[in-house]
Amino acid sequence: ATRWGRGPKGLDFDAVAPNRADAVSVPDGYEPQVVIRWGDPVLEGAPEFDPENQTPESQAGQFGYNNDYTALLDHPDDRRKKVLVCNHEYTTESSMLPDYDEAAPTEDQIRIGLAAHGLSVVTVEEDRRTGALTPVVGDGLNRRITAETPFVISGPAAGSDLLKTTADAEGATALGTLNNCAGGTTPWGTILSGEENFNQYFANFATMTDADQKAKLARYGFSGGASARKWEQYDPRFDLEQEPNEPNRFGWIVELDPYDPEWAPRKRTALGRFKHEGAGPRLARDGRVVVYMGDDERFDYMYKFVSKEKMKSGSSRRAREHNRKLLDEGTLYVARFTGDSPAAEIDGTGALPSDGRFDGSGEWIKLASGTTSYVDGFSAEEVYVWTRQAADKVGATKMDRPEDVEPSPKTGKVYVALTNNTNRGTGSNAKADEANPRNANKHGQILELTERRDDPTSLTFGWNLLLVCGDPAAADTYFGGFPKDQVSPISCPDNVAFDPYGNLWISTDGNALGSNDGLFAVALEGRHRGLTKQFLTVPIGAETCGPVVQEKHILVAAQHPGELSGASYDNPLSQWPDGPGSIPRPSVVNVTTDRFGSIGC
Ligand code: FEO
Ligand code: CA
Ligand code: CA
Ligand code: CA
Repeated sequence: ATRWGRGPKGLDFDAVAPNRADAVSVPDGYEPQVVIRWGDPVLEGAPEFDPENQTPESQAGQFGYNNDYTALLDHPDDRRKKVLVCNHEYTTESSMLPDYDEAAPTEDQIRIGLAAHGLSVVTVEEDRRTGALTPVVGDGLNRRITAETPFVISGPAAGSDLLKTTADAEGATALGTLNNCAGGTTPWGTILSGEENFNQYFANFATMTDADQKAKLARYGFSGGASARKWEQYDPRFDLEQEPNEPNRFGWIVELDPYDPEWAPRKRTALGRFKHEGAGPRLARDGRVVVYMGDDERFDYMYKFVSKEKMKSGSSRRAREHNRKLLDEGTLYVARFTGDSPAAEIDGTGALPSDGRFDGSGEWIKLASGTTSYVDGFSAEEVYVWTRQAADKVGATKMDRPEDVEPSPKTGKVYVALTNNTNRGTGSNAKADEANPRNANKHGQILELTERRDDPTSLTFGWNLLLVCGDPAAADTYFGGFPKDQVSPISCPDNVAFDPYGNLWISTDGNALGSNDGLFAVALEGRHRGLTKQFLTVPIGAETCGPVVQEKHILVAAQHPGELSGASYDNPLSQWPDGPGSIPRPSVVNVTTDRFGSIGC
């Protein structure tokens, strides 16, 4: 029983209390099961995990590190199986590898790091009685994409001089994908994955001689000399002095077809280049596809892409080939938000304005369409490669770190996780506005955006803040108008998903209230709107990623368990999931009811 009675469908579970446990905690009546861990074999012949004897070849056949975006798809020809796809965002070699010297990693250690990045595709078998998911090692669909896998550079910036390097004079093929954070699943069954903090892999910014390129890279957060992982010692493409254009080949949305291992993954230049968090697709009524995207940096922007062509339905080869080109041609927009309350009423404390809501209107500003630029002083190629600078030029709204941006499959309303921005209002930085209403914002907010006429191709929209996160007892928080003494505390929203009943689910990263990160369900409709309940917590030091929310499965990727100050291979600060005496392993967790029934009902 809960204080909310049965509550809305999907939220009928006992909320998990905030905690600091080194475990995955779930409500009574639910079971967490570890599906796959960093180092578990994926490809035929890959060895079992053995951290004392890890090799680049082993890692290239095993599940990668720091699982983030997660999708659980139908298997093409076996109803007892499903296809799990997962991003591997980044590596922390000092916690992964014995005898690791940060100043002088060995070539093998560097190559293990490269191989632990990327994505995994893994077929899993579902136990019909319990819902447990077990990897099918060596299945024909299984794949490892790493930081060295060839990607076709595709769309309007492909072949641009800005993308050419010594190894690729055509600007056509990039090796690998880096820092893949969140993502999305397209209506035609492919996976989109966002290349986020790619700047950290490149060395010698400080001494690079190409002054023009250097100034442009600065806007993307490049700085300093040697990189943290020292990959430049193994491969000159990570040295900006030698290969100033190599970083232009990262920072894209990539598209992978998990059902077609022969099809090389693509980097989709039409969707712009920034620190992509994820990509949330929605079909317009006329069949065009719209993709919503966030650039996760303090004071950066929210974007959308609208395809030129319409999706073809059906599973024919012709339809599939057509749909796999949709993201190469279309129009890229950036968002501008305007509040409807007097600016003087937005004082930066989070106090509600006199109309009782943080809300207003907004517009989508056109940046480029195919080979046409709409930004003064920028060619279309420059808009795609230097998207941040193009968006600066048109006066887009500086947001509090846009993470996931996802449309509800039920209502079409778009939910934006603005994770935090402790620099808001400090020094010469932008001050609070109605969409980003707190200075020194530690806990973040959730923005709800409604496209004009519920048409995702519209050029204008309305918006309001659904949640202003933090401690519900604090005056600067807001939970959709729901009584705040009846909600779970929530801080630093990152990824969002929807259950089959239309509720919003939010995972957190960096909980600034001092407890472990977790997964929360939020009611959106009717008298329960704003009711927020914590469904699970992840182990200490971890962030909650994924998440997959289905009728009978909830999957989260517990990323970087034990990532706390002072942690190392010899001093692990989490023993999850393998228990005493082990090092922590980022893992995907499957939660079901103990009878494999409907979740939250
Ligand atoms: Fe990788 Fe924006 O989180
Ligand atoms: Ca994230
Ligand atoms: Ca208002
Ligand atoms: Ca985050």
